[in-house]
Amino acid sequence: MSEGSRRRSWAEPFKIKVVEPVRMTTHQERREALDEAAWNTFLLKSRDVYIDLLTDSGTSAMSDHQWAGMMVGDEAYAGSENFYHLERAIQETYGYPYMVPTHQGRAAEHIISQILISDGDIIPGNMYFTTTKLHQELAGGTFVDVIVDEAHDPESEHPFKGNVDLNKLEALVDEYGVDRIPFISLATTVNMAGGQPVSLENIKELHAFCSSHGIPIYLDKTRVAENAYFIKEREPGYSDTSVQEIVQEICSYTEGAWMSAKKDALVNIGGYLVLRDEEVFEQARNMVVVYEGLHTYGGLAGRDMEAMARGMVESVDEEHIKARVGQVIYLGNKIASEGVPIVKPVGGHAVFLNAKAFLPHLDQEEYPAQRLAAEIYLEGGVRSMERGIVSAGRDEKTGENLRPNLELVRLTLPRRVYTQAHMDVTAETVWEVWDRRDSIKGLEMVYEPKYLRFFQACFKPIE
Ligand code: F0G
Repeated sequence: MSEGSRRRSWAEPFKIKVVEPVRMTTHQERREALDEAAWNTFLLKSRDVYIDLLTDSGTSAMSDHQWAGMMVGDEAYAGSENFYHLERAIQETYGYPYMVPTHQGRAAEHIISQILISDGDIIPGNMYFTTTKLHQELAGGTFVDVIVDEAHDPESEHPFKGNVDLNKLEALVDEYGVDRIPFISLATTVNMAGGQPVSLENIKELHAFCSSHGIPIYLDKTRVAENAYFIKEREPGYSDTSVQEIVQEICSYTEGAWMSAKKDALVNIGGYLVLRDEEVFEQARNMVVVYEGLHTYGGLAGRDMEAMARGMVESVDEEHIKARVGQVIYLGNKIASEGVPIVKPVGGHAVFLNAKAFLPHLDQEEYPAQRLAAEIYLEGGVRSMERGIVSAGRDEKTGENLRPNLELVRLTLPRRVYTQAHMDVTAETVWEVWDRRDSIKGLEMVYEPKYLRFFQACFKPIE
């Protein structure tokens, strides 16, 4: 673009080769579908959804290069060619020497939690993620949130709301001692905070603190490329550094990481654990054969590993990541332009509506975000998900509902799937619900499963 050029907008760095038709539905059909799904968007059938913003997990579009890779899947039980390609791609893209493939992120969380955590341990982290925290608890640990206070405030415009508050971490170390803290659970593009990034300055300070106390940092790098993009855009000194180099630098401060490759890495299934410590690697490589499959496929087909190896390279492409995050920001700004309360700044993978401010007349125990997600579906066939009190679950010890400050609805964008026109329709759908917000009532929970209740809980509208 030349100096003084009129061009300000980004456009997708691809063109569309294959399309998948979606079904339009009537208000009546959606009401029936919602009743059948017990007012939980996770229980809707995909065929009843017009624009599916439930999650960016496994829902992205693969490139022609990735699809071509599916054809060279080496489906040998042991020593698949694609495993070695994946291992090399990980070493080159992220810099970790050892890798154990798993079928998706939570399987890697299970393995690393079982290896590192003992009964009574404390796991500090920059805000919980549902599956991560559960695996830490199932291994006998207790997750403690040490994210900066700004992360819990939807209105705060702090550019790095994913940062760790080192004072909170230090207080925890003083209280419990380093022996009870096996690692710090650091996440990039903090999902539950609204897709908020961590700065490299904060990661470096954290690394200095952890090194001096002998506490390793393990990273949930599920959306590390999006975080790196925000660093490039917002952190002084990084505007000329490539996203790939920033990703490498983030990883360099960590002892290991787990990944749900279904996000950044542009695949429909896949994950892994990456490690620097040979002993931990040996244990993980042994455990994976019990729960997933041999250590050279970990629950995946050879073709899945090939698509993952190719996808992770595409994930750090400058034009790709700019358009990916650009689309999320476009949707966020558009929705907010009519006064709808959203989490600010707009995150990397999703726009989060502030359901507490959207439906201030509802008590949190009437599940405002759950109801709002249902209403958005009812209005326009757009599927989103609750990220509030239902997702937070109950206190392990007291059995009481946890009442997170953030009561949110997440409109999550699959990568390379929807067009700008879909974004416009989504914003208009949200506006229509906004216009009738005063008449929206809450929900009652009528069925609650024990683990990760948000996936399968059932509700009834309060009339
Ligand atoms: N960590 C983060 C930050 C995640 O967002 C997820 C999944 C996982 C770990 C677990 O990975 O699903 O492959 O087992 N998040 C999805 C979501 C489900 O919709 O945000 P998984």
